[in-house]
Amino acid sequence: MNRAAEAVRRARVRVAEKITDLIGDTPIVRLHTFEKEVPGVELWAKCEFFNPGGSVKDRAAYQMIKDALRDGRLKPGQAIIDSTSGNTGVAYSLIGGALGFPVTLVMPGNVSWARRKITEAFGTKLVFSDPMEGSDGAIRLCRKMVDENPGAYFYPDQYSNTSNPGGHYATTGREIWEQTEGRVTHFVTGIGTSGTVMGTGRRLKEYRRDIEVYAVEPADALHGLEGLKHMESSIVPGIYHPEELNGVIPMETDEAWDVAERLAKHEGLLVGHSSGASLAGGLRIARRLVAEKRTGVIVTLFPDRAERYFEAPVLPPKPTSAK
Ligand SMILES: Cc1ncc(COP(=O)(O)O)c(C=O)c1O
Repeated sequence: MNRAAEAVRRARVRVAEKITDLIGDTPIVRLHTFEKEVPGVELWAKCEFFNPGGSVKDRAAYQMIKDALRDGRLKPGQAIIDSTSGNTGVAYSLIGGALGFPVTLVMPGNVSWARRKITEAFGTKLVFSDPMEGSDGAIRLCRKMVDENPGAYFYPDQYSNTSNPGGHYATTGREIWEQTEGRVTHFVTGIGTSGTVMGTGRRLKEYRRDIEVYAVEPADALHGLEGLKHMESSIVPGIYHPEELNGVIPMETDEAWDVAERLAKHEGLLVGHSSGASLAGGLRIARRLVAEKRTGVIVTLFPDRAERYFEAPVLPPKPTSAK
């Protein structure tokens, strides 16, 4: 078999030299039951839980690490450190394991048991910040650790690192364009660091200027949409440029949770609440299109699966010894 034919075969059956080669190229799936509510509008979801680390954050983490290795910001012997209670931590842990770099994560002390266990299983070291200070407290503690020992760490700082949206520009945006055969009219997704919406949106708008790009953010500072950030009450990420977007959709926790529940029961998609938020945002746009008698091809994005948020069973109390 010649080299080109071999490359095609390996891509089709997905033979990889390393687990990191399997990051990206996730499928998109059509959401038929939701489409019934919005006749004339197509609804699709990019299934990012197909990434090897189980979430969209594999893409950003891998791009940040690849770029840092290329230009010498990450050197052998250094550890990768960042503040993340979630999917980015799993992504760093997996990539660090695959490429031979130790990983330290700073996370609020109240993160879920599952998050701790998954990252620790990769050999990652965990440092806990004050739970009352949320994710911003973890960012501050991480910066302090790096300042105190700068040579020991490579600190990707996903909130300000242009490789984060860069990973989505290079992959997610192109994939959506190819998967919809250039028919996509709207892209909608939730914002945490904003890397996904900024990078994907930029690439899509390069393909066709009139593709509309929307971010979904929690409507309130206190919310139940893990992974998403309420910008007004947070440290605003350096990579966030809302002026490039067509709009920001404030999302209530209840509405997003409802959609996530329907996704599991009616589409067989057991996804996290931020996926519910993404589709709830897409549905709002779809309803507007229907009201205006327009059609559209709306692509939403599902960052991860619901299992990631399942809590461990509470241990029964230890029997007290009889005296
Ligand atoms: C579950 C979940 N959804 C959405 C996002 C948002 O992605 P981004 O950071 O690219 O804005 C994240 C990011 O951490 C996440 O963990």
